[in-house]
Amino acid sequence: MNFSLSEEHEMIRDAAREFAQSELLPGVIERDEKQQFPKELIKKMGEMGFLGMMAPTEFGGGGMDTISYVLVMEELSKIDASASVIVSVNNSLVNYGLAEYGSQEQKEKYLSKLTTGEKLGAFCLSEPEAGSDATSQRTTAIDKGDHYILNGTKNWITNGGSADYYLVIAQTDKEKKHRGINAFIVEKDWEGFEIGPKEQKLGIRGSDTHSLIFNDVKVPKENRIGEDGFGFKFAMKTLSGGRIGIAAQALGIASGAYELALDYSKQRKAFGTEICNHQAIAFKLADMYTEIEAARHLVMKAAWLKDQKQNYDLASSMAKLYASKVAMDTTIEAVQVHGGNGFVKEYHVERLMRDAKITQIYEGTSEIQKIVISRSIIDN
Ligand code: CAA
Repeated sequence: MNFSLSEEHEMIRDAAREFAQSELLPGVIERDEKQQFPKELIKKMGEMGFLGMMAPTEFGGGGMDTISYVLVMEELSKIDASASVIVSVNNSLVNYGLAEYGSQEQKEKYLSKLTTGEKLGAFCLSEPEAGSDATSQRTTAIDKGDHYILNGTKNWITNGGSADYYLVIAQTDKEKKHRGINAFIVEKDWEGFEIGPKEQKLGIRGSDTHSLIFNDVKVPKENRIGEDGFGFKFAMKTLSGGRIGIAAQALGIASGAYELALDYSKQRKAFGTEICNHQAIAFKLADMYTEIEAARHLVMKAAWLKDQKQNYDLASSMAKLYASKVAMDTTIEAVQVHGGNGFVKEYHVERLMRDAKITQIYEGTSEIQKIVISRSIIDN
């Protein structure tokens, strides 16, 4: 067993750290306030290779391992979780889904543009009545021979307004329940595809979240991913890896908040000494540090299993469940360590606290992770 990072991993982590400091930190408060994420910044993330990290090099990807991806996600999330969710959805859900299950033509046409940042992807599973209960898809795709006709509404779609290519999950045969679900690649400018209003959110406000409306959208048959009826398994398999990315995001939010709290506690004086010298603060720091380290082990174990081509469904759910709880707990405590300043935007911890909450909700709520974990341990 080896707990240390390779030199290459350290270099990748340092490059992401440097990028986060120089490119993401300036303007992060403004992006949060205005609910905006400039296209140029997405382009810069593409130039750094962050948007195609694990995808095969033959399709423009970096061909890197999941450990590298997790390191980048942690570093970006320490500073700007809105940036890291863009990276996460594009890599874990869209690129991975296409690289693993797409046809050669789909990879050439779509994946090769998504890996470089030329185009951005979105993953569209959730619906007004099918968030956690993903089998209950109301969006329909009716088989018309050489194409499908897509109708329905998707909700809370990350990159909803800014994406170019959308992986859309829809019901093709209701009778067959989850075996009658398919996944399709839909392009933004296709007739009948409408982007709904932007959601006003508590956290990750820089990332744009929209509902999407499909009105008789004609989808060519060659844009279906995999065999007929593969859509539900496609979503589950893809989300399982996605949960490693979100766990890494939660880890980054927690470690970002911890680092700010530690620095602040070494500078701020009360009752004649720096506040880190008071046990009330020192014990908080000890708890934060220990819990973050435990979360990091779970996240790295899940990433390692994926890289070893072993089953990581249980590990990714455990990593997401725990890291997202640590993100929430740590950010609340980091605000407390900062006292009144913690409530003020310029100290960053209030934003991290707001951003932390979504990690317990998207790509499966904490309750969903407990379903996956409990089923796995009971079945074995
Ligand atoms: N890999 C492969 N197959 C899987 C699988 C996995 N990880 N998990 C389930 N399946 C298969 C099962 O084997 C079963 O197939 P068969 O019947 O052919 O054997 C089928 O899928 C149905 O499985 P279940 O009976 O377990 O399904 P269920 O209805 O009980 O639901 C669930 C399982 C875990 C609750 C699932 O619905 C789920 O994960 N829900 C949460 C969905 C989710 O994460 N939504 C987030 C939206 S995406 C998002 O947030 C993106 C973003 O923008 C950031």
